Amino acid sequence: MSNPPLLEVKNLYMHYHISDQEIVKAVSDVSFSVYEGETFGFVGESGCGKSATCRSLLRLIKPPGEILSGEILYKGQDILKLSPRAMQQFRGRQMSMIFQEPMTALNPVMKIRDQITDALYFLKNRKTEANEYAVDLLRRVGIPLPEERIKEYPHQFSGGMQQRAMIASALGPKPGLLLADEPTTALDVTIQDQIIKLINNLRDELKMSVILVTHDLGVVAQMCDRLAVMYAGRIMEMTDTVTLFSKPRHPYTYALLGSIPTRANRGKKLEPITGAPPNLANLDPGCPFKPRCRYAESVCGEELPEIRELKPGHWSRCHFLDKAESFQGVIEDYQQ
Ligand SMILES: Nc1ncnc2c1ncn2[C@@H]1O[C@H](COP(=O)(O)OP(=O)(O)O)[C@@H](O)[C@H]1O
Ligand SMILES: [Mg+2]
Repeated sequence: MSNPPLLEVKNLYMHYHISDQEIVKAVSDVSFSVYEGETFGFVGESGCGKSATCRSLLRLIKPPGEILSGEILYKGQDILKLSPRAMQQFRGRQMSMIFQEPMTALNPVMKIRDQITDALYFLKNRKTEANEYAVDLLRRVGIPLPEERIKEYPHQFSGGMQQRAMIASALGPKPGLLLADEPTTALDVTIQDQIIKLINNLRDELKMSVILVTHDLGVVAQMCDRLAVMYAGRIMEMTDTVTLFSKPRHPYTYALLGSIPTRANRGKKLEPITGAPPNLANLDPGCPFKPRCRYAESVCGEELPEIRELKPGHWSRCHFLDKAESFQGVIEDYQQ
């Protein structure tokens, strides 16, 4: 990691200010970096702020959502300082996003061809070339007979094909960073696998970086170099994928790993995490995981732990990090 990061996010806060009595703290003190060519994952249960983080990076937050503070440095430039017009150009060209639900990104009354070619700013006024490029993109994402299919409307495509068309339109402008928010959740397993391979191949071919959001740790293992585990709008643990699966250092990560099938817990009984995540509009002081944590002590209900670097590149937010070695084996605790 000797090169500077492509994206560096520092202390980002994003809240939904529903009323003075109800403020949903969707993203709190989120800091991370993404390097060129890597895939960085966000995992965590539903509602923990993964999508809110992604949308903040592209400034796609609508009121009552608002970014309160922080920095989002892309190639060293803070995109929170860009004018709306500059931001519009930045989106798509530098950073683009694919969504869980393809129809949120595809326009139902526009032919697939026009949706893709409209974004190809570098082929502006070169219609034939833009069309050829769009056909080639569709072929690369695995759409059969692309010369024919490109003339169709999104509703003429199956769900898996719509997903591919959306990926093609997001990749058309060759962004440096692709944000993929649960890109495979709505698809069946075979198509999921194909889409994962496709994103991995395109990342290598285009030398892109990818931020992948998912609640599926199996997908993380197949795709991510490093990842952050989110809980209640905060990063609880962040490290490389191998370390996270083999030497996790946060009780929430232990609980997550114990609740899903992984290589490490093969053959063991899986244990869903008891209790529910907190309401982000009504957070108690202290560690948000405390009510569900087996290792909590009284300090955990009083003070929010800082996120600390345990070893180079391995971060965790827990009062008992010094005892973390003795948490070894807790994955088994969560499985008994
Ligand atoms: N438009 C909105 N208005 C108010 N609250 C929202 C809105 N969108 C999301 N939230 C809340 O923000 C929190 C984070 O949501 P989200 O980022 O979508 O979670 P995730 O993607 O991890 O499932 C949740 O508590 C969710 O209910
Ligand atoms: Mg989401």
